[in-house]
Amino acid sequence: MAILVTGGLGYVGSHAVKALIERGEHVVNLDNLSYGHLEAACGSKVVIGDIGDRDLLRKIFATHDIDSVMHFAAFKDVGESVVDPQKYFLNNLANSLAMLEVMLEFGIRMMIFSSSAAIFGEPEVVPITENHPKSPTNPYGRSKLQIEEVLAEYSRAYGLRSIWMRYFNAAGADPSGLIGEDHKPEFHLIPLVLEAALGKRESIKIFGNDWKTPDGTCIRDYIHVNDLAQAHLLGLDALRKGKETTAYNLGNGNGYSVKEVIEVAREVTGKNIKAEEVERREGDPAVLVASSEKIISDLGFQPKFPDLKTIIETAWNWHKNHPDGY
Ligand code: UFG
Repeated sequence: MAILVTGGLGYVGSHAVKALIERGEHVVNLDNLSYGHLEAACGSKVVIGDIGDRDLLRKIFATHDIDSVMHFAAFKDVGESVVDPQKYFLNNLANSLAMLEVMLEFGIRMMIFSSSAAIFGEPEVVPITENHPKSPTNPYGRSKLQIEEVLAEYSRAYGLRSIWMRYFNAAGADPSGLIGEDHKPEFHLIPLVLEAALGKRESIKIFGNDWKTPDGTCIRDYIHVNDLAQAHLLGLDALRKGKETTAYNLGNGNGYSVKEVIEVAREVTGKNIKAEEVERREGDPAVLVASSEKIISDLGFQPKFPDLKTIIETAWNWHKNHPDGY
């Protein structure tokens, strides 16, 4: 039995692939290398190609005894999605539809889907539970919500069961130091702060100091990438035991402000990271904090790295040993 992982050479995907391989799963890792890294394969069988390539998918499903798909492959730059929505709807939505079509053709009826906190938009209440109203504020978030909606219908009509993992802020790196976060261009807070600690950038910009939060900077819920990987494995086990389609929010339930993140990074790195306060970034919600009670009670999810300091320590371990990425 094998599992198809899409986007398994990317940041979250590669950490899940490593966890799957470590417990003896046979992984076929489909990635088009648009953002992935071959060095992150972790012993999986890599196939270079596109999730929208129906013939390639048919070949993969005909060759390997695949029971399920973990679907990470997607574009995820929120700002870019506003400027070029077509890129997001074609890749994230249309290509996912193509893949689902071939899955149904081959009778493959289990999927773990990488969704996002971006489906909620500006929250009405925090912590955010699974049934919080969905109102994405950008095409990226909308593309993720649309796939959830498609998956709900396919579950009802075709019995294709899926679990939607809605990540809040994925962060950290595998403690082995073998794989980590390497986005080009980088726009996420923690890697940018660590690049400033490495002297690769002069300072970190704080986007807004007048938000309605205790220190005026935005609050986010950071979750270790290995904990996300663990959640995916629990989801896969549950689907294999017959679990019905459902969604889980994935965070730690603790919010940290941008200033707090920078402070913890100073402590971890021992570097005086320079920060400058600039204008707000358009489209940022003030506070995003998850309630992950549902996955804790349904699947026994237990984060191994819940505190921010450990998350940043593992990220720092990766960044200082790979200052230029892979
Ligand atoms: N930030 C800064 N300076 C920077 C970069 C970020 O102050 O140079 C701030 C942002 O304004 C935000 C926080 O740091 O308040 C975290 O920003 P990230 O870019 O690291 O992450 P986001 O919260 O914007 O994005 C995350 C996921 C996205 C998802 C989004 C949902 O990475 O995939 O949450 O809103 F779409």
